[in-house]
Amino acid sequence: MKDTLLELKDLTVSVRQEKKEIPIVKGVDIVIPKGQIVGLVGESGCGKSMTARSIMGLLPPSAGVSGQILWHDTDGTVTDLTGLRENKLRKMCGPKIGMIFQEPMTSLNPMMRIGDQVAEVLLIHKLVKNRAEAAEKVIRLLGEVGISDPGLRYRSYPHELSGGMRQRVMIAMAVICEPDLLIADEPTTALDVTVEAQILKLIRRMCGSYHMSAIMITHNMGVVSEICDSVYVMYMGRIMERAAVSQLFERPLHPYTKGLLSSIPRIGANPEYLETIPGNIPELGKEAVGCDFCIRCSEDEHRCFFEHPQEEDAGEGHFVSCFSWKRGER
Ligand SMILES: Nc1ncnc2c1ncn2[C@@H]1O[C@H](COP(=O)(O)OP(=O)(O)OP(=O)(O)O)[C@@H](O)[C@H]1O
Ligand SMILES: [Mg+2]
Repeated sequence: MKDTLLELKDLTVSVRQEKKEIPIVKGVDIVIPKGQIVGLVGESGCGKSMTARSIMGLLPPSAGVSGQILWHDTDGTVTDLTGLRENKLRKMCGPKIGMIFQEPMTSLNPMMRIGDQVAEVLLIHKLVKNRAEAAEKVIRLLGEVGISDPGLRYRSYPHELSGGMRQRVMIAMAVICEPDLLIADEPTTALDVTVEAQILKLIRRMCGSYHMSAIMITHNMGVVSEICDSVYVMYMGRIMERAAVSQLFERPLHPYTKGLLSSIPRIGANPEYLETIPGNIPELGKEAVGCDFCIRCSEDEHRCFFEHPQEEDAGEGHFVSCFSWKRGER
């Protein structure tokens, strides 16, 4: 497809634990169109990070991957990233794919000045002639991501910055090579709401000015509504529902999505009265014969326990894997 940047096709990731293969990501299909921000949302442990990490080949050694991760280059060539050797994949990370992680303190080197850390990315990928040129680019970008006095801040160490500032440095590091794709794995969970809103705005602005696509990983539907164009709802390693953001918010079809939407914290609301989805995610490796969500579902019917729902087309680019979505709509 002309407007597609990345396609995950039947992506399956499993980890080996005590001689058993435990499926974590189970046949996921995701399309990232050029220039769009795609949300991947779901509760803790559902496999969001594993999905993202498989794109960059950053999975634990015990993990096995099958399926395809198709990268559509500007010249029309399509490369399956699952077949690339590690060194080739590393070369893509930076110039083609940038990643922002959840906890900037663990991703930044505490012993190195922040400016040098960002400059290092340019030097490793040989995108500048020398350190002076790298420093000049980094200072300009630090200013662009909202770090005041960037010439001075260049020489700061990570511990001298606030959490929000460190996350801005991470964003600078991820976009310094002007990648085609930005993967942001819960980039604002460690921040308070005001700083969160600023960082989300910054990511949106960066995507616009660098013509980047992005995968925004979050457990918060509020974040999705803030910056995403389309969204994939994940539960226990599977995509339960996908649609344009406006569609999903107007017409959520899967009972799990409805639960996620009703648990968005609202400013001023008493957190004690926050609605939650009853039950917990079942233990990993205990595979259900039927729908993974049925034991927590309020709209379940008999066959949900015995049959696995296939994805159905609900119209207007909206897809759902649920037997009872039509009934739930009435
Ligand atoms: N190195 C590993 N070895 C074995 N299992 C792992 C490993 N890393 C993650 N897992 C398991 O894989 C499942 C999915 O993990 P993943 O990190 O993708 O979840 P997530 O959706 O990103 O959650 P969170 O919102 O908490 O970040 C989890 O149940 C986790 O316990
Ligand atoms: Mg995660």
